[in-house]
Amino acid sequence: MSSVEYIQYHGILLPPLAHSMESLEYAEKFSVEDSDVFAVTYPKSGTIWMQEILPLVLNGGDLTPIHTVPNWDRVPWLEEKRLALVVDKLESPRGLVTHFPYHLMPPSFHSSKAKAIYVMRDPKDIVVSSYHFHKMAEFLESPGTFDEFIEKFIKGKVLFGKWTDHVKSWRGADLGDRIMYITYEEMVQDLPAAIRRISDFVGRNLSEEAIQKIAEHCSFRTMKNNNMSNFSLVPKKYMNSDTSPFLRKGVAGDWKNHFSPEQLARFTSAISKDLEGESFSLPWSLD
Ligand code: A3P
Repeated sequence: MSSVEYIQYHGILLPPLAHSMESLEYAEKFSVEDSDVFAVTYPKSGTIWMQEILPLVLNGGDLTPIHTVPNWDRVPWLEEKRLALVVDKLESPRGLVTHFPYHLMPPSFHSSKAKAIYVMRDPKDIVVSSYHFHKMAEFLESPGTFDEFIEKFIKGKVLFGKWTDHVKSWRGADLGDRIMYITYEEMVQDLPAAIRRISDFVGRNLSEEAIQKIAEHCSFRTMKNNNMSNFSLVPKKYMNSDTSPFLRKGVAGDWKNHFSPEQLARFTSAISKDLEGESFSLPWSLD
């Protein structure tokens, strides 16, 4: 198992395979355009799902990008090294993703009219998804036992820091109608309805037919078979899908197969404590 030295950036940890001080500086100075749409996620909340949905919503359902461009170049991460390499090839309106907390967004984001779609997921399912991801991703620290990994997650000693800090930062973002909140669970439950909301938010009035087509091509099963989206193009020495596929289960509630009653109690109490006094409430119960 791997031992990895992460980059420390404003108190958060980042894997050096995808990030560098240059890529972070590039992100800080990035010139955001008014028509840009950012999908914002804490890792394992549905990022690559949005990398599939967003270009199709923005282009009205033309499948070319999802069939010809790998997800990381199609809707690149603001903070990752690939952005500088592909930025000139992005078609307008551009779709981007980021795991940054709100306060690390570049100044040009704040002064622009760019939109953000914040995707939240039940943190218990995030821990489970992340635990399996850390086992298969050789460029990440090994997760240890599930119990140990839960502790690291609670303390924020994982990629992009504490989940609660991330949620607080984006829930408190003063962006008015430039931000839309959606949950992974909502997308699992009714993908066409989620796509309709996204399409209305970005100002595309897609037909019912286009929405159904996009939903079909963004289903878990279709994405799992799409080599441009399932990370099968990444060498096994970085991501070993024999250990766990990136598109692993794609369901809500898999935490029930992983958490012991003690772990659930510990997790719920730590997360609730972190969120004490916040003005927003979570869309799901923590226990
Ligand atoms: P699981 O590990 O629970 O299966 P991210 O892209 O932010 O890293 O999130 C990865 C999680 O999103 C994984 O969760 C993955 O299976 C899930 N996911 C990706 N595409 C999906 C889809 N079309 N439908 C449902 N879940 C999807």
